Amino acid sequence: MRGGIAPARTSIAAVSPMLMLGIESSCDETAAAVVAEVDDPARPWQIRSSIVASQVEIHREWGGVVPELASRQHIRDICGVVERALGDASVTLRDLDAIAVTQGPGLVGSLLVGLSFAKSLAASASLPLVPVHHLAGHIESLFLHHGPLPLPAAVLVVSGGHTSLFEVREPGVYRLLGRTRDDAAGEAYDKVAKLLGLGYPGGPIIDRIAPEGDDRAFDLPAARMTHRDRNAPGEPGRLDFSFSGIKTAVLRHVRAQGPGAGGQEGHGAALALRATAAEEARRGTEGTVGAQHAVPGTEPPSPCGLRRVREPQARFVADLCASFQRSVVEALLDRTFEAAALIGARSIGIAGGVSANSRLRADATARGRRAGLPVFLPPLNLSTDNAAMIAAAGLRRYHQGVRAGLDLNADASLRL
Ligand code: KG4
Ligand code: ZN
Repeated sequence: MRGGIAPARTSIAAVSPMLMLGIESSCDETAAAVVAEVDDPARPWQIRSSIVASQVEIHREWGGVVPELASRQHIRDICGVVERALGDASVTLRDLDAIAVTQGPGLVGSLLVGLSFAKSLAASASLPLVPVHHLAGHIESLFLHHGPLPLPAAVLVVSGGHTSLFEVREPGVYRLLGRTRDDAAGEAYDKVAKLLGLGYPGGPIIDRIAPEGDDRAFDLPAARMTHRDRNAPGEPGRLDFSFSGIKTAVLRHVRAQGPGAGGQEGHGAALALRATAAEEARRGTEGTVGAQHAVPGTEPPSPCGLRRVREPQARFVADLCASFQRSVVEALLDRTFEAAALIGARSIGIAGGVSANSRLRADATARGRRAGLPVFLPPLNLSTDNAAMIAAAGLRRYHQGVRAGLDLNADASLRL
């Protein structure tokens, strides 16, 4: 036990790892995890369990997260999720050293569920409570999986709610370098998928469809930087992002294409169904629309499992998805590598839900190789929201001496 918080356990300091329970409920995932601190400088944190209860099926019907439904579902799920996380780690409350919880940012009703639960648990078990910033959790997911990164690092956190670039010069200290001026990249993915009738959440669906299209078919402006931005290197704002323009550009192309281009009845919906079926077939899921079913106007499955589309409208959607994805990924990586050069980074990290994107992962790694900079990405289960990253960030904060009292409140727009 490090930190001297639980005197009863100090006598077994050499053999007993510090155990942190993490709780995350900032949006539409109820998550709990147990992370142990172990005596291995190369990989000091070890995931003992990680449970995520996703609400995606509930919100899909509405095309996005409905805050009221989200908080109600968190209330239903939180007990079972925490119990399961403890059970899977084969620990009880008494084995824990502290509890880390997401304080913000996020949906305030959702945050309050996890926070109130964590406070009650900490009070009843006399455990220290550590408040965690959600984005610090995403950043620490990189250290959790890879161990210490070469510092300084330029870290891009790209999710449904955020697109921010940070400088990490020493572990646990984050300096904001740039962020989106409007939509987050994940939000742009979700909105574009919605207007193409592809369903929710849009990121994974567009990611699966994009390889079927021509990524040069449409020239979409990913970011409109001003004359001043371009000509004043080092000025604040130079490393900012903007994704609202690309969403509008996609909308213009959809309108110009006319009926059938997207929407619930359009070819986008059919293509999404096919993409989902192909993905499920790839994963071996049964009882769904199988990719082996003949679909008129298609050729045999392409290497990624999707059928190569021939219908003009479906081709239009696939080309638009591919072009959109290229523009977004280029914008993300241009700024990230620019930031790395500005701060003299020795590594690059990319975390958050959009870091699950296959093109972003491939292009980032290839660009890093060309630039001679190692690029670190979390595994897919740590890209999207989870509580293991909150427990890891909690361990970091715990050692910085951060503790919260029972007056801790959720903060929907907490700053890092
Ligand atoms: O980090 P996260 O789970 O939640 C937030 O903190 O926002 O990120 C969710 C976002 C959603 O917008 C989702 O569409 C996007 O991540 N996402 C993806 C992919 N998987 C999830 N975006 C692009 N490609 C993906 N494969
Ligand atoms: Zn997140």
